[in-house]
Amino acid sequence: MKEENIVKNYELTDDEKLDNTIRPETIEEYIGQKDVKENIKVFVKAAKMREEALDHVLLYGPPGLGKTTLAFIIAHEMGTSIKTASGPSIEKSGDLAAILSTLEPGDVLFIDEIHRMPRYIEEILYPAMEDFSLDIIVGSEGNSRNIKIDLPPFTLVGATTRAGDLSSPLRDRFGIIHKLQYYTEEELTDIVKRTARVLDVEIDDDAAVELAKRSRGTPRIANRLFKRVRDFAMVQGDGTVTLEITEEALNKLKVDKMGLDNTDRELLLSIIEKFNGGPVGIDALSSSIGEEVTTIEDVYEPYLLQEGLLKRTSRGRVVTDKAYEMLGIPVKNEKNKQTTLDFE
Ligand SMILES: Nc1ncnc2c1ncn2[C@@H]1O[C@H](COP(=O)(O)OP(=O)(O)OP(=O)(O)O)[C@@H](O)[C@H]1O
Ligand SMILES: [Mg+2]
Repeated sequence: MKEENIVKNYELTDDEKLDNTIRPETIEEYIGQKDVKENIKVFVKAAKMREEALDHVLLYGPPGLGKTTLAFIIAHEMGTSIKTASGPSIEKSGDLAAILSTLEPGDVLFIDEIHRMPRYIEEILYPAMEDFSLDIIVGSEGNSRNIKIDLPPFTLVGATTRAGDLSSPLRDRFGIIHKLQYYTEEELTDIVKRTARVLDVEIDDDAAVELAKRSRGTPRIANRLFKRVRDFAMVQGDGTVTLEITEEALNKLKVDKMGLDNTDRELLLSIIEKFNGGPVGIDALSSSIGEEVTTIEDVYEPYLLQEGLLKRTSRGRVVTDKAYEMLGIPVKNEKNKQTTLDFE
């Protein structure tokens, strides 16, 4: 599979480099997300039988759950190339035209963070997605004209952590829309074991389970923690990742039994200590812990909600009894004991 980073003009971090080496390439290697996988398999097979490009795909969900990985797998399974771009880096219509003009029939165009694409770029994308044609204005003021360029049939795969921020005309042009879910402990255990195999590291079963438990349902976190634990195993042991080493390393990394990190805990503690358990508005919470509203909403909150540690109510965020219990704090305020109306 050929990969070209056209608009990706930022440096890869260490974690991204690690991501690239251990990223599964085929749909069979992609662990979990059963429904998404089954559907994609059928749609890919049908598109190949019809000798057509796969319909446009929108993948959404919290960071690190495998959206980018799945985009590459889709291209691999279709037997085509993938070109990648990220929403905020497509600034001018010419940027988009440049990427689109490199596409071969059936290629995948992956646009990461698609919700951050400027609105006028979106508007150029509509006819490209629908009729595979590009309408752009060329020339300078007074001497400009519209030109229409035919494009080969292609598949746009868009990824976003916030499907709600996508305009509805854009969302409606995706034929296949999937939400990625947090992974189960069993699935994460398999992911950790697979990563260990790929990196040629011995890991005990109970150590893999422990890593899975503490990974916030997220493969990227599982892999990152695995990498750190592997370092401890090399330096302090004989290189084999054992349960003892895993526990010691994770405690040093301040990852607790539930996989919550410092920010997760700070968020819950701040609601308890400064806002009496809630309800608290997202803006007040944001300034209280010094994290952006979008980061709280996209990165931290989804997992805390899913684990039942936090609730969203019409009046704001409320910490649940389970969170008090987990943090070892007695529930003080009886009136806050889950009497608020559910928001969702
Ligand atoms: N289903 C899976 N099976 C095995 N490994 C996976 C799976 N999903 C993700 N991973 C691993 O987790 C890492 C992160 O996945 P990926 O980069 O695709 O996440 P993402 O959803 O695109 O995140 P972001 O929103 O931050 O861009 C990858 O390097 C990959 O190795
Ligand atoms: Mg990604």
